[in-house]
Amino acid sequence: MAPEGNTELAMSRCLVTGAAGFIGSHLCDALLDQGHDVVGLDAFIPYYPRAVKEANLAGARRHPRFTFHELDLRTADLAGAVSGCEVVFHEAAMPGLMRSWSDLDLYASCNLVGTQRLLEAARQARVAHVIHVSTSSVYGREATGPEDSALQPCSPYGITKLGAEHLCRTYAGHFGVPVTILRYFSVYGPRQRPDMAYHILIRCLLRNEPFTLYGAGDQTRSNTYAADCVQATLLAMAQRERALGGTFNVGGGQVVSLNEVIALLEELTGRRLDIRRKPARPGDQKHTAADITRIASVLSYQPSTPVREGLQAQLAWERQILSAT
Ligand SMILES: NC(=O)c1ccc[n+]([C@@H]2O[C@H](COP(=O)([O-])OP(=O)(O)OC[C@H]3O[C@@H](n4cnc5c(N)ncnc54)[C@H](O)[C@@H]3O)[C@@H](O)[C@H]2O)c1
Repeated sequence: MAPEGNTELAMSRCLVTGAAGFIGSHLCDALLDQGHDVVGLDAFIPYYPRAVKEANLAGARRHPRFTFHELDLRTADLAGAVSGCEVVFHEAAMPGLMRSWSDLDLYASCNLVGTQRLLEAARQARVAHVIHVSTSSVYGREATGPEDSALQPCSPYGITKLGAEHLCRTYAGHFGVPVTILRYFSVYGPRQRPDMAYHILIRCLLRNEPFTLYGAGDQTRSNTYAADCVQATLLAMAQRERALGGTFNVGGGQVVSLNEVIALLEELTGRRLDIRRKPARPGDQKHTAADITRIASVLSYQPSTPVREGLQAQLAWERQILSAT
């Protein structure tokens, strides 16, 4: 179904980098549903198991309008994958804060070198729109203001993602590459990465295993349900003229603390979580509350999934995966 406020409904050929990942795979499915041709690209970086990513990609792989390139953005010739694509969605990255302290080579190469090589390929191919995916981590410990707030990332991950944003702006300024930047805020839902808090929390509840809580649990998040995040991304594509040159926060409407999420999941599962407490980790964000004023007014984005409903959907997916293994 076309998003509301859609001004350009023509079908496109789209490249999705990170197509086998959590969000990239949902985006591929949604683009195929809308009737677009989709070219997926992923290197299956073994940050989490390939089998999990293959499962994410399974539906798209069966679709006649989907083609896939197993390529590494850091080293591969990207011309063939980019060729003929009007829109490039750059979802691929090394995500996650903690590992970035100990594996900066991997983060810097995937998030900076990979982004620069993709922008260069998009420039050569005269792609009409590059939608670059960034993160609330570029703001730092607190991410509560509008897009022109101070950018003070407090983890190597956030620093590399901010560097990637600067590369996009530089390619736009010097070479006229048409770019939109979307800063996602904590995305959750089915297929959530295995290193992410809600995924771990739900697994601990379902398996009766202890959960390590870093900090007091009063840290808040502007969680974005995966389908809402995809909807915002599709709006940027559909309203290219309005989105071009812009940077937009993408968040869910509801801000909740980790303690509130734990209570909700205990209620939904009817189980009590065995919590082991540890101090907050370096680089952990304290409060995120996405200010979505700009994307709401420019692209008519409105998140529609309440946290309770989103967590129920993730819980159902986790149950299904666990029962199949
Ligand atoms: N999940 C969130 O809550 C969240 C929040 C803010 C921003 N983001 C951003 O959203 C995007 C997607 O995140 P995700 O959670 O789906 O992560 P993910 O790890 O599930 O997906 C990323 C995919 O990119 C691929 N990739 C990484 N480096 C690559 C390279 N050099 N060449 C080719 N493929 C490569 C990986 O193999 C992976 O499948 C990332 O850019 C991330 O920074 C995510």
